[in-house]
Amino acid sequence: MSGQKVVDLFCGAGGASLGFVKSGYEVVGAVDADKKAVETYKKNLCCADSVVDELPGDISFDEPLRADLSRGYEDKGVDDELEAVTFDDIRSHFDIKPGEVDVICGCPPCQNFSSLRDTEPWPEDKPKDNLLRAFVEFVEEEVPEVVFFENVRNIMTAGEQAASTYVDWLTRSMESITREGDSDKEGGYGYSLEVLNAADYGIPQKRNRTIGLFAYGMDSDDIALPEPTHTEEPTPESGLESWVTVSNALRNHEDLKHDLESGEKQVGIQGYPDDPEHRARRHQSRTIERMKAIRRHGGSWRDLIDTDDENYIVDAHDGLERGATSAYGIMNGEEPAPTLTTRCTTPSCGRFTHPEMNRGITFREAALLMTFPRWFKLPSKNDAAERVVGNAVPPELVQVLASHIELLLSKE
Ligand SMILES: C[S@@+](CC[C@H](N)C(=O)[O-])C[C@H]1O[C@@H](n2cnc3c(N)ncnc32)[C@H](O)[C@@H]1O
Repeated sequence: MSGQKVVDLFCGAGGASLGFVKSGYEVVGAVDADKKAVETYKKNLCCADSVVDELPGDISFDEPLRADLSRGYEDKGVDDELEAVTFDDIRSHFDIKPGEVDVICGCPPCQNFSSLRDTEPWPEDKPKDNLLRAFVEFVEEEVPEVVFFENVRNIMTAGEQAASTYVDWLTRSMESITREGDSDKEGGYGYSLEVLNAADYGIPQKRNRTIGLFAYGMDSDDIALPEPTHTEEPTPESGLESWVTVSNALRNHEDLKHDLESGEKQVGIQGYPDDPEHRARRHQSRTIERMKAIRRHGGSWRDLIDTDDENYIVDAHDGLERGATSAYGIMNGEEPAPTLTTRCTTPSCGRFTHPEMNRGITFREAALLMTFPRWFKLPSKNDAAERVVGNAVPPELVQVLASHIELLLSKE
């Protein structure tokens, strides 16, 4: 297969798009508001002599559209100058005919997430989350065969009432969408919506995300997400493989200089090919001392409690009570990485210190743990580089899901 056509909304730097292309789909349009993400997508996936040409699928445009997908509903995170687009605008921009899109892929950030802790149910006709509302309206405009949805885990697991209200609104809205001329019975999206751990699909990262597959006119009982292929402790009976660890994922790349120091970059280093993405943030000497102390005592700042290195906790965490549990933690090389966030190369922001070196993981290492291929280029600015990586859906996870979606498409 497949040549099935995908539009990627909230495309970021293209993690999800790349997964679809690796699985044989043609991505015919992609939209995001983030300038750096759009530039990164273009640089990697749209250029004429791109490695993408050798992949089974295709990207059929020269650059993603940088636009506001909030449909004019309030989105504080987005540049006011950006145009708010409809699906019709997206079709015109990419020269797509109505009804031509097989799959809409969408990862709308859950912007009002904190409000999910409210105990009040949302009014049926007005979801509190504007981007979720906008996303459903895009689907209503095109009504493709399949909708792929990705979101944070907590939309399923936050306070029962709040989470179920978010999810209920989404599934109810999707169930009631019908194409012109179809009866209620013929139309509506059946769905499967679950929290998946990327590590269970061979991704070297424990990343729990809500994944939804919606298929038009299908019964939800006939839709399932793919079964895991990997597990933490496989048994011969399970037929599953072991989780892929950080060491497995990084050690495959022999041409990466693994003993890079804080502030060092793999450019002009004798014996290694240049890789500007393989650069470690420069840390203050006090930070490096803290990493060493944490490594001596275990792997987490909590291991410093009641030791003669306790002073390293206090200045980092403004007192024990308020310290974030994983800050300055050392990544365990023998496990999949923890969830990489948009601060995933910054040790103070999570368990992002390299398993063996006293530095944060490099941008290249973060990208590899997200299953971006080795050739994938990142923004030269550090904050933008870690943001586009941490925001991504792992391409190899999407590849698995995209192959599974083919089964749904072939049932139509
Ligand atoms: C979870 S990330 C998507 C990651 C992407 N699917 C990938 O795999 O690389 C969410 C994206 O939504 C974008 N975004 C947030 N608000 C937006 C808006 N109003 N219009 C367009 N894009 C928006 C962000 O810039 C971010 O790239």
